[in-house]
Amino acid sequence: MLAIIGGTGLSQLQGFEQLEKVALKTPYARKLVRLTRVGSGDKEFIFLPRHGAGHKIPPHQINYRANIAALLELGVTEIVAVNAVGAIHGDLLPGSIAVPDQLIDYSYSRDVSFYDGKLKKVHHIDFTNPYSEAIRERILQAARRVNSRSQTRCEVMPSGVYACTQGPRLETAAEIRRLAKDGCDMVGMTGMPEASLARELEIDYASLALCVNWAAGLSEEAITLEGIHSVLEGGMQYVCAVIAEIVQHS
Ligand code: HPA
Repeated sequence: MLAIIGGTGLSQLQGFEQLEKVALKTPYARKLVRLTRVGSGDKEFIFLPRHGAGHKIPPHQINYRANIAALLELGVTEIVAVNAVGAIHGDLLPGSIAVPDQLIDYSYSRDVSFYDGKLKKVHHIDFTNPYSEAIRERILQAARRVNSRSQTRCEVMPSGVYACTQGPRLETAAEIRRLAKDGCDMVGMTGMPEASLARELEIDYASLALCVNWAAGLSEEAITLEGIHSVLEGGMQYVCAVIAEIVQHS
């Protein structure tokens, strides 16, 4: 079963059939995890908005363990995670998308593992390649198909390094210069520990990153929420078209 984890700008899926709302209790949270079974043609998938239904949960307070555990409970074996990012690499223009193949985690104070001392053995997952190559390829093929038939083509960066910062504040210009030196191409706040928790539970995971602004200090213009939201609106329509295409071919 495929799951889509929606990020900023994608708390609700437009253009799909909502089949059933599900609320699940997990050992990792007092609150229930709220997900939706969604239909697209003759296919079905699970949708989970990581910031909650009304986009109320900030990146550092998302219960990533509860979310991933709930997805496993529903039989999810593959995840496409949608992440809004700021662009660091010069080729990644706001409004374009990227499918990262590597990440560096700068976040802290998050519950990063299911192996939290209650289990007998510590488990060290292999995380050399943090994203599933098979799912990355499916996202890229879907984006190519959407591009080939619509007039509004979207630039796609087929690989890149995702930097996960703590948030919720945006970065300083010096922090972005450091990330660029480290080899990061894009910056977001929600990529980790989501990706490694999925790996711990052996769920295939990849990210569809929508670039919504130039990272701090890389543009003359200030980063504003209005600017981000105007890019998000158009970009999410494209992201939804890519998701429909992924689902159809799954
Ligand atoms: N930094 C961190 N996270 C983000 C950004 C950014 O510039 N844009 C969207 N998410």
